[in-house]
Amino acid sequence: WLSSATGNVDELAFDLPLRIPPLLEGGSFDLRLQAGVSELRPGTKTGTWGVNGPHLGPTLRMRRGETVSPRVHNALPEATSVHWHGMRLPATMDGGPHQMIAPGSTWKPTWKIDQPAATLWYHPHLHGTTARHVYQGLAGLFLIDDEHAAKLPHEYGVDDIPLIIQDATFDGDGSLTLDNFGMSVVPGMDLMGFLGKEVLVNGTLGPAFTVTTTRVRLRLLNASVGRVYNVGFADDREFALVATDSGLVGEPVRLTRVLLASGERAEIVVDFRPGEQVVLRSFTAELGGGTAFDRFAGGADAFDLMKFTADGRLAESAAVPARLADVQAPVVPPNAKTRTFRLGSTSINDKKMDLARIDEVVPAGATEIWELNNPSAYHSFHIHEASFRILDVNGKAPAAYEAGRKDTVYVPPEGHVRLLVEFGRHTDPAAPYMFHCHMLVHEDKGMMGQFVIVEPGQ
Ligand code: C2O
Ligand code: CU
Repeated sequence: WLSSATGNVDELAFDLPLRIPPLLEGGSFDLRLQAGVSELRPGTKTGTWGVNGPHLGPTLRMRRGETVSPRVHNALPEATSVHWHGMRLPATMDGGPHQMIAPGSTWKPTWKIDQPAATLWYHPHLHGTTARHVYQGLAGLFLIDDEHAAKLPHEYGVDDIPLIIQDATFDGDGSLTLDNFGMSVVPGMDLMGFLGKEVLVNGTLGPAFTVTTTRVRLRLLNASVGRVYNVGFADDREFALVATDSGLVGEPVRLTRVLLASGERAEIVVDFRPGEQVVLRSFTAELGGGTAFDRFAGGADAFDLMKFTADGRLAESAAVPARLADVQAPVVPPNAKTRTFRLGSTSINDKKMDLARIDEVVPAGATEIWELNNPSAYHSFHIHEASFRILDVNGKAPAAYEAGRKDTVYVPPEGHVRLLVEFGRHTDPAAPYMFHCHMLVHEDKGMMGQFVIVEPGQ
């Protein structure tokens, strides 16, 4: 009854070219949400959803300071929305559950990009259908560039490679299985989720990528419904972590593994030698709460994600700068307000999501401590229109891979996480932003709340 990604993946040849989503630059573009047919498994047709194509969406790329004005047309048979995950913008442009796009209609948000370089992404966010819509293929990257990020490899598709990681289970007829959504795996423990049996990277099962430079920047996105990945290389080589969810880290961090829960991103720079082959894997992980629990979020599974093959001659890449951005250790302001949240798998503070209820009112530009208390299962906590630092996890300093600027955090079972959250300044007492679990089944079942940003003193 529990899916394991080990079965089929081991038999893959890792010889299919990695699909690279097309790039869309410039601030004015059309995004068409549509149904289609894809060959996710060689020789099998699968009904999927995509943006400007049958599966996944283009990579959007903009510079800080530019204005974005997409026209988002819904050609799907049902309503959806498009949320810009990690973007700092007015709530009415955010694409959450209140910005529903009816079938046949077009949504035209517009905002100015005013935040540091980062790997963001976009996906549907309608309450109750987010898991299914993302799982069917509605997801894409939104890259923000600035002068700091330009010092890293940045030739898209050559030495700057998006890797959208999603697990999936296929029926005998090739269709994507949604059946075990909402399964309650341990009676009384309120554990729910979905672990697909196979893992796709950019919609490719068993992909290979040909490396042509001595250094490659990989933008990792966990766009899965609930699976947690512990990403590293089969030969345990070190790589440099250069960015987390909300932007560059201060100095590159040498690591061999990075743990990504649903919604989280990491940018890593990897060195390659001419002619070599190396496999990117997800390793077994201790997810907290003991080994008996690890399997529920995929921690018991180890499997290959993709293969890199380096050309016999590689173009020499620039070194990774020793200093990437002005990011200091977090400092808690003396009178920072603390809010506490009790995480249930279908509720937050024992309340289920209600589109008509505002749960928190935050003053514009506030820096607050958000304390997450998790009495049971795994969660991945995300806050819109905010960037945070992790103060501690179970009373201890965060791991090196999660010490940077973040918008989503893995919360271990029976865990306790404190965040120092910086909120934005786009005030609107009538238009809420979301905070929620990014394990999408939890979100859909009600593990989401709403906050508004208001002028201080209001
Ligand atoms: Cu990636 Cu509120 O979502
Ligand atoms: Cu959750």
